[in-house]
Amino acid sequence: MQSSSPSETYASTMSEHVGRFYDHFAAVTDSFDATIHFGYWDEPGQAADGPGSLGEAMHRLTDEVIRRLRPAEGAAVLDVGCGLGGPAVRIATKAPVNVTGISVSAEQVRLANELAESQNLADRLSFHHADVLRLPFEDASFDAAFALESLIHVPDRAGALAEIRRVLRPGGRLVATDHFERAAFSAEQQALLDRYAGMLLLAPLVGIEEYLTVLRGSGLRFEEASDITERTLRDSFLLIAESERSRRAAPDFAGPASPEGYDPADLADLGQLGYLLFSAVRPD
Ligand SMILES: C[S@@+](CC[C@H](N)C(=O)[O-])C[C@H]1O[C@@H](n2cnc3c(N)ncnc32)[C@H](O)[C@@H]1O
Repeated sequence: MQSSSPSETYASTMSEHVGRFYDHFAAVTDSFDATIHFGYWDEPGQAADGPGSLGEAMHRLTDEVIRRLRPAEGAAVLDVGCGLGGPAVRIATKAPVNVTGISVSAEQVRLANELAESQNLADRLSFHHADVLRLPFEDASFDAAFALESLIHVPDRAGALAEIRRVLRPGGRLVATDHFERAAFSAEQQALLDRYAGMLLLAPLVGIEEYLTVLRGSGLRFEEASDITERTLRDSFLLIAESERSRRAAPDFAGPASPEGYDPADLADLGQLGYLLFSAVRPD
């Protein structure tokens, strides 16, 4: 029997933890059209519009990804870390493409397939329980891929990007969002980040230069990277905190949508925590 290396064991343990985390929160994170990511605003400082604006802002981020992905008619698109299926439904509603989603949460996969059925999209959307580090697909089987806020949980980004490259056809594009380290953290800021990274199972952060080196090393040709921190994180953290407070105050409160002790507002002013939107192409 072949034994696993310590880094393989760490990666698969992390994937299992992340899967259980999202299984646990699957039923209660469904409040924004089955979408679980940060919102996007053209102008920062829109949080004053109230929590009602968060759902729209989340869709705007999905649209920023779709705009860069530019899938051709009939394209086979891989959704890496599909969550509850909201972004895949949005892309399949806007473009005549077929989307295959994967998540390490079996419960998310079940709900995402239910969503596809209920939207009469099951002929073009399917969701599977799988890890980005071991994609159960043939080489060169997708025309395009997107990873909306899923790499944030994957410490082996190089391994994940190499797997995505493997399943993309030559010329196929990946569009993804991820956290990165925007500037060095003070000891106090690092302690705050570490506490939340532990609760939310975030992978360690790397700076932008290191990130792009890993990306190039995976064999993908880097196209574009935008630091969209100002347009996403602060307003989202404030609105998510507000929305969580109103959920808790509601008479039919069904349990928190995030770990106990997590107050997203604490992270709103942590400017060192960055949010990156990038695209890359498999050259050959
Ligand atoms: C923040 S949610 C984003 C969900 C979805 N992309 C969205 O935008 O609504 C993170 C997703 O990444 C998935 N994920 C995390 N690590 C993964 C891994 N190693 N392989 C596949 N999916 C993973 C989680 O299961 C979850 O579905």
